[in-house]
Parts: sequence; C-alpha cells; structure tokens
Amino acid sequence: MASDAAKSESDSAGKAEDTTKTTEELQSLRLIRDRRSIREFTGERIPDEHIEMILEAARHAPSPENMLMIRFIVIRDDKEAKEFLADIAQEMAQTAFGGAPFELTSGRNWFINDPYRAAVYARLRDGELFRYPEKSDAVIIVCASEAWHDAGYLYPNELFGSVVAGMAVQNMWLTATELGYGCGYEALICSDPRHAELVRDKLGIPPIWTPLTAFCIGKRISPRALGPSRAPLEGLMYEERWGYPYKRLAFRKEEK
Ligand SMILES: Cc1cc2nc3c(=O)[nH]c(=O)nc-3n(C[C@H](O)[C@H](O)[C@H](O)COP(=O)(O)O)c2cc1C
Repeated sequence: MASDAAKSESDSAGKAEDTTKTTEELQSLRLIRDRRSIREFTGERIPDEHIEMILEAARHAPSPENMLMIRFIVIRDDKEAKEFLADIAQEMAQTAFGGAPFELTSGRNWFINDPYRAAVYARLRDGELFRYPEKSDAVIIVCASEAWHDAGYLYPNELFGSVVAGMAVQNMWLTATELGYGCGYEALICSDPRHAELVRDKLGIPPIWTPLTAFCIGKRISPRALGPSRAPLEGLMYEERWGYPYKRLAFRKEEK
C-alpha cells in the first residue's frame, strides 16, 4: 500500500518521475493511440460495474472552478429511445453525406484505398452505419451548459461547457478502451437543431442544457484495423509563433 501511495504522488508534490519513458512505455499514450471510433456492436450487455467505472471517469473531468457544467443521461434499457436515436442519426447521415457528390467529399477518406473508398462512402450515404445507438449497450447523452449557475458571468465563452464535456467524453472513451469496449461519438443526433429539439423533448432535457452527443458504448464486433492516421506534429504545432513549424526532436538531433 505504502509504495502505491508513493507512486501516486503528483508532480505538484515535486515527486514526478525523473526517468524519461519512451512513448511505448507510456500507458496513457498507448491508450490514447488504441482508442478508436467503433460503430458496430454485438448488442450484448456489459457488466454494470464496468459502465459505472466509465461514468466515474467522466466525473473526474476538469472544469472551470470545478463547476462541472455537464450532465449525462445513461440509457441502457429503453430500446425504443435507442431506436429513436438511430433513426435520427441515419436520417442525418443521409442528408449530410448524400448532399454532396462523392468526388467532392470522398477526399476526406483518403486513408481508404480504391476501390474500397467508394463502398465505404456508399455506406456513409446510406446511413445504416450510424444506427449504432440501437446496438450499443449504453447510450450516454452528454449535455453541456453555458448558462449553468454563474458560468455565464464568470466564463462568457460560448464553448466552455462543450470543452468540459469533451474532456469527460475522452475520459470515458479511454477507460472503456482499457476495459476492451468500443465507443462511438454519435453527434449526428443533434447536428440539426430540429433533431436536437426532438431529443430534448423525448428525454426531458431543460432549455439551458444542450445535448451534444449520444456517446455509445458496447461490445464491439471487431477491433478497427484501418483508420485515419493523424497529421504529424509539424502539421499541427507551431514553435513560439504562428507559422513556424514545430520540429520533432528526432529531426533536431540529426542536425547536430
Ligand atoms: C466532435 C466530434 C463529432 C463527431 N461526430 C461523429 C458522428 O456524428 N458520428 C460518428 O460516427 N462519429 C463521429 N465522430 C468520430 C470521428 O469521426 C472520429 O473520431 C474520427 O474520424 C477519427 O477516428 P477515430 O476516432 O477512430 O480515431 C465525432 C468525433 C468528434 C470528436
């Protein structure tokens, strides 16, 4: 026990580990890389204890002055509500992906080779792929508020609630990944404000709370093998000033 307590001492206590770990050794980075969007679930039930661990992770999200301007509706037993969400998601996918020609938008899926890309795109347009709320065990409606308590005065930034919600979702996603479950972030249920109203009405969400996603958790049919890689650090980070690309340590060493 004593050694566990010592291990968990935080950086602020001046006890941060002084040995540099490789990226492979870092458990957090491994989990972050393993986390994927899963959209096909078996429909099986997950043990309640596991769902609660995942919810526990959400509770630990950081928030301005610990205000936690986020709320979660955990839907597990209400099949009809799950179908309702699946119907909305499919309809929205058909509208969103069916609205532009393949040639214009398929470039986003550059990581899928021909001829598979067209087939994947056809699935997006058909929208069936996005019906996954009905096959997941837990559908968590994540809501955020920009007007909760005095948040509107203290933090007059329209995105604060969503930032906190994003952190909570990522916490849940990583915990579920470690437990071996799949998760999908179904934003299509409220992309259209009219759908968001239907969701509010169905689930009784009060006006100052905004549903952001149906975050779906379930047993996955298979792990994702293929997926979007990420832009390199140079593509996302600047050094000291906007426009000066960050240079990875590996490249700096080469120059010496
Ligand atoms: C804000 C946000 C909105 C998203 N919306 C949807 C969505 O409506 N439906 C869906 O299936 N996935 C959605 N995703 C998941 C992304 O498509 C996915 O994270 C991205 O393609 C990268 O793939 P990966 O999660 O497997 O790494 C969303 C993710 C985020 C963060």
